[in-house]
Amino acid sequence: MSRWKVYVTNEIPKPALDMLEEYCDMEVNRTGHVLEKSVLLEKVKGRDAILSLLTDPIDAEVMDAAKGAKIFANYAVGYNNIDIPSATERGIMVSNTPGVLTDTTAEMAWALLFSVARRVVESDKYSRMGKYKGWGPMLFLGQDVMNKTVGVIGAGRIGLSFAKRAKAFDMKVLYSDVAANPEFEKETEGQYVSLETLLKESDFVSIHTPLVPETFHLISTKEFKLMKNTAILINTSRGPVVDESALVKALQSGEIWGAGLDVYEFEPEFTEGLLELDNAIVCPHIASATIDTRTKMGIIAVTNILAAMRGELPPNCLNPEVFKK
Ligand code: DGY
Repeated sequence: MSRWKVYVTNEIPKPALDMLEEYCDMEVNRTGHVLEKSVLLEKVKGRDAILSLLTDPIDAEVMDAAKGAKIFANYAVGYNNIDIPSATERGIMVSNTPGVLTDTTAEMAWALLFSVARRVVESDKYSRMGKYKGWGPMLFLGQDVMNKTVGVIGAGRIGLSFAKRAKAFDMKVLYSDVAANPEFEKETEGQYVSLETLLKESDFVSIHTPLVPETFHLISTKEFKLMKNTAILINTSRGPVVDESALVKALQSGEIWGAGLDVYEFEPEFTEGLLELDNAIVCPHIASATIDTRTKMGIIAVTNILAAMRGELPPNCLNPEVFKK
């Protein structure tokens, strides 16, 4: 079996690169920056496989430049950066890295929820600025989490992992999705409700949907109006699910109480006004960023490439219909 030529669009944890290097001739973008489209178009030429990131828009133009490539192995569970129909049309396989980041992402959603509710980042800044002069009865009053209602939008793997943890805080779980999910209900005692009911009744709302045309701006002005003034919105899914200008307005006007964000509509840009808000926590898309998880994601992406190289169906192929033995 001849060694495949593989391009890796950014540095990923070493164990995954070592594994790839053992079987393939690889080149890695080690600039630390996302490649300009023009550079990406050059780099993918003549490769058998490309290990891409969610920051690389893989459209028909990139696929045509990568003529002869058999697989784009995305280093992410989300794959909204890849035009799958165009890949399928061209007989190119696309894979992702599901499963391994489920709990890690759910943990981050909880970290954001607690941090906003208890004003952790804001009060830490206050201490560092030398403003803390002694305990005060009105200092950084936040929101209790115990016994409250949490609304989970999207009852997939990550939504489920997030919701399961609500039991530990004796919380009531509401969830919405395109259909009821019996497994979700069994594991979380969650109640399936409309998005409207979820927004009206939840103290915390956490988003776990993929970005598809139906979820673009799922939460916008009308939805913020439905939410409680004390509500906190958490988004660890994809930025464009939330209308970010509407979010900034809702946070500025007190329509909602706070937001914990890991993803942005115009990533890596922030909508004007967002960074000035003390009631928003703005993390740089790190929900899956633990050493263990990012290493496992790399191993999975490489495993998908090596399976394709051996003529096998990659375990996480998203368009298996193009697989030819
Ligand atoms: C994903 O995998 O889709 C996350 O956004 C990054 O790990």
